[in-house]
Amino acid sequence: MPALFQPFTLKDITLRNRIAVPPMCQYSAIDGRANEWHHAHYAGMARGGAGLVIVEATAVSPEGRITPNCTGIWSDELAQAFVPIVQAIKKQGAVPGIQIAHAGRKASANRPWEGDDHIASDDPRGWQPLAPSAIAYGKHLSKQPREMTLEDIAKVRDDFVAAAKRAREAGFEWLELHFAHGYLAQSFFSEHSNLRTDAYGGNHENRSRFLRETFAAVREVWPERFPLCVRFGVLEFDGNDEQTLNESIELARQLKDDGLDLMSVSIGFNTPKARIPWAPAFLGPIAGRVRREAGIPVSSAWGFGEPQLAEKAIQDGQLDLVLAGKAHLANPHWAYQAARELKVDKPSWTLPAPYAHWLERY
Ligand SMILES: Cc1cc2nc3c(=O)[nH]c(=O)nc-3n(C[C@H](O)[C@H](O)[C@H](O)COP(=O)(O)O)c2cc1C
Repeated sequence: MPALFQPFTLKDITLRNRIAVPPMCQYSAIDGRANEWHHAHYAGMARGGAGLVIVEATAVSPEGRITPNCTGIWSDELAQAFVPIVQAIKKQGAVPGIQIAHAGRKASANRPWEGDDHIASDDPRGWQPLAPSAIAYGKHLSKQPREMTLEDIAKVRDDFVAAAKRAREAGFEWLELHFAHGYLAQSFFSEHSNLRTDAYGGNHENRSRFLRETFAAVREVWPERFPLCVRFGVLEFDGNDEQTLNESIELARQLKDDGLDLMSVSIGFNTPKARIPWAPAFLGPIAGRVRREAGIPVSSAWGFGEPQLAEKAIQDGQLDLVLAGKAHLANPHWAYQAARELKVDKPSWTLPAPYAHWLERY
């Protein structure tokens, strides 16, 4: 059996293979509520054979949404809207995960296909974003955020805790904290966005504080038997990468001591000046380094949607789990395609009988 189709066990959860659908915002919720679009989308992703399906960045508070159409989990009612989705994912044999998030200074934006920029200040759909310091991201996200007070920081941490509890009550078995992509937590870690002079800014320890405190608070309420993961941008591609990567690996070690089960290795996206060397599977060696040096399981995305590349990343020990995002949007049965290409005996076992029967036969 190819490495990509070996099961993967983390805590009490076993995935049927090493393929995961990463969180991908659908920007299709009204007032934060998941609906029939999300149901069809996530059920389809799970039906296709992936071991893990992670529901999109779901905001811990209304102002933590990227756009007014992002999903939220800031009330019990919103959490309950996920129950049929969780059940559909499980019924198809995948493990249901969710990413909980606060967008920080990138919040209050238009949907990607409607401009991807900040909502105009005089537009009532928008709001003032929160951030560690009153510095805008820049370019298309030019709205100046409000610098968070210590009360704001404590409230967001508590919002993450409440969201984690609700995610569990809705039935999710895998929790990911969105600490990546220039959103709130990542912006605390980065000197591009954090110029605070109190305990939450300055040296590595202080810039890590919000992340570590939030993680530790969530760990207390998220059951030990289910994986608790963090998605984190380990470097920015801003010319200072060796230092950032070393600091990130140090953070990964610390989070591991605090109870982290897996790090989803990604990019910081904290500065529009970044020069990202896009190429298929280009984060593989970096993720492998985090895996080796921090001694934790890792996953990664960005261009692993070719079955041979995905297989090699697992075989070479770079990744424990492969995240295939856009490949699943193009083909929700990507796992089946991968099984065929990797010459798995009877690849149609990845699909339910009403599809598999015909594909095996002809
Ligand atoms: C439509 C779309 C929505 C996304 N939303 C999220 C998200 O909610 N959270 C997140 O961490 N990454 C998000 N991403 C990034 C993906 O998880 C993934 O890292 C990215 O698509 C690169 O992987 P790929 O080359 O396999 O597509 C999104 C990507 C896409 C295409």
